[in-house]
Amino acid sequence: MDQHIVEEIKANLDIVDLLSGYVELKRAGKNYKALCPFHAEKTPSFIVSPEKQIFHCFGCGAGGDVFTFLQRYEGLSFPEAVRALAERAGVKITRDSFSASGPGRLRKTLIGIHRDALTFYREALGRERRATEYLKRRGLSEEMIERFEIGFAPFGGGLLDFLRKKGYSDAHILTAGLCKETSGGKVDAFRGRVIFPIINVRGEVIAFGARSIGDDARGPKYLNSPETPIFKKSSELFGINLAKGEIRKKGYALLMEGYLDVITAHQYGIENAVAPLGTALTEGQAKRLKPLTEKLLLVFDSDSSGVRASKRALSMLYEKGFIARVLSLPEGDDPDTFLRREGREAFVGMFREVKGLVDFYIEHGGERVDTARELIYIISKVKDGILRSDLIRELSEKTGLSEQFLREELLLLRRETGPPMGAMQGGAPRLSAEMLLLGLYITYPEYAPVVKEGISPEDIEDERVRRIFEKLYSSSAASLKELTSGLEEQEMSVVSGSTIGLEIDAEEVVRNIKDCIRSIRSRRLRKRLKDLELEIRLAEKRGQSETVSELQGRMNILIKEGVDEGIL
Ligand code: CTP
Ligand code: MN
Repeated sequence: MDQHIVEEIKANLDIVDLLSGYVELKRAGKNYKALCPFHAEKTPSFIVSPEKQIFHCFGCGAGGDVFTFLQRYEGLSFPEAVRALAERAGVKITRDSFSASGPGRLRKTLIGIHRDALTFYREALGRERRATEYLKRRGLSEEMIERFEIGFAPFGGGLLDFLRKKGYSDAHILTAGLCKETSGGKVDAFRGRVIFPIINVRGEVIAFGARSIGDDARGPKYLNSPETPIFKKSSELFGINLAKGEIRKKGYALLMEGYLDVITAHQYGIENAVAPLGTALTEGQAKRLKPLTEKLLLVFDSDSSGVRASKRALSMLYEKGFIARVLSLPEGDDPDTFLRREGREAFVGMFREVKGLVDFYIEHGGERVDTARELIYIISKVKDGILRSDLIRELSEKTGLSEQFLREELLLLRRETGPPMGAMQGGAPRLSAEMLLLGLYITYPEYAPVVKEGISPEDIEDERVRRIFEKLYSSSAASLKELTSGLEEQEMSVVSGSTIGLEIDAEEVVRNIKDCIRSIRSRRLRKRLKDLELEIRLAEKRGQSETVSELQGRMNILIKEGVDEGIL
């Protein structure tokens, strides 16, 4: 990404101008306030600073610049947001501006082919009674057929000719996976099947799912598009284009297993439902959801493969920073059959019985200690320290195992899997010393040397703050303007949160910086001492006397250092 372009776009846009098209901004002193569009709230904690050209929500922690806003609001990637805002800012971009975006022309062609193919399938649906009857039998309303743009691939084919007449080359049609080469020549890939278009978050048709309509039909129940340059099954979700608004509004997404489940859910007014494409939930798919929500409700079969799938998904999701719960339907049901038989009320009523990570594992686990161990392993990967701690407490309450024991086990695992990571900031208005120091560093770059001398990135406990310091220290960028691009969303939020409310008298800056440094160093030292203490206790329990004395020695050195420095 060309940095000049990014700067130029920013220079030509005003954040207040842009955001007022999305939220209702009210003046509040130097800043503007609004109800946060990224989480549900009744009193505004979403602040926009015209001076700093950033926004930040003190409720949910969302924050950043114009690009971050658009990325989150529209679920776009950074290059996509740049493209969208360039237009608005009247900045011309060439394909060279996107060094990483690859062959854009092929992508365009393939998306065009899919759109045109869908037109063909849609028209074909109206002409085939067997198809419309099938959909009727399945209970799909006209409205859903329209909304999900459901089509039909004729028994006799015809798509290939249609696309050729539109001017597409056979090579492109083959690459799109819409026809295939057989000994008898090229034929349509899907025939005699209901077509469910797979549409990405930006509304581009990128693939198709195709269900046979006769129970006696040959071939599998579903055929899906193959992997193509524009379609990677493992990173797309069915229904995301239609569900994104509601996911954001409700603050969570429902994850179901099949196309029909999602469509039926929407038909019954549950519009935050999406589904993976016939595989177990992948990291790539979770990534798609991340800009919209970090809370998921998994609706899976309650048979043993459903339980296995749920466990795998839970473990991956907690590692990736999500909070997930599981709704188990009665055996033999999927959301589609359940909703049609029992109705919306009954379905929503089941939400009362959803199980969190700990409960789900206990309910579907074996021996208490084995379950605990499985869970500790998952918890050890959770990056948010507060959540980790809550989960350990819950595990202790529900298994009767002592919290102390569980924490020691956790500590051992975290030692093995890497350095302990800091507690996550909840985005509270009162800044931690680490956040405050970051804000000071960015706002008053002239004092950077003082900060650099007192703190190295390893001293920072909050992983996100630490990453930003690493970037700051290793580049010449210090000011907000230079920093914002090239940061991940979470990091942006830290930057905006640490700077937006910062008001400090010029003569107080150095004193504040020094206070922060002392407090960070002191806290880090205390934490290291505590960790050592635990390690010592563990080693004692195991009778490793040599380790004990080695650790004790290390502890003494640290204590002396702390006392000398005056931070203990
Ligand atoms: N699937 C697939 N290939 C198959 C079977 C299933 O790709 N041969 C995928 C589809 O994405 C399907 C999902 O797995 O939506 C769930 O499968 P299943 O529960 O069998 O299908 P439903 O969506 O429930 O469809 P139906 O109710 O029509 O059986
Ligand atoms: Mn089904």
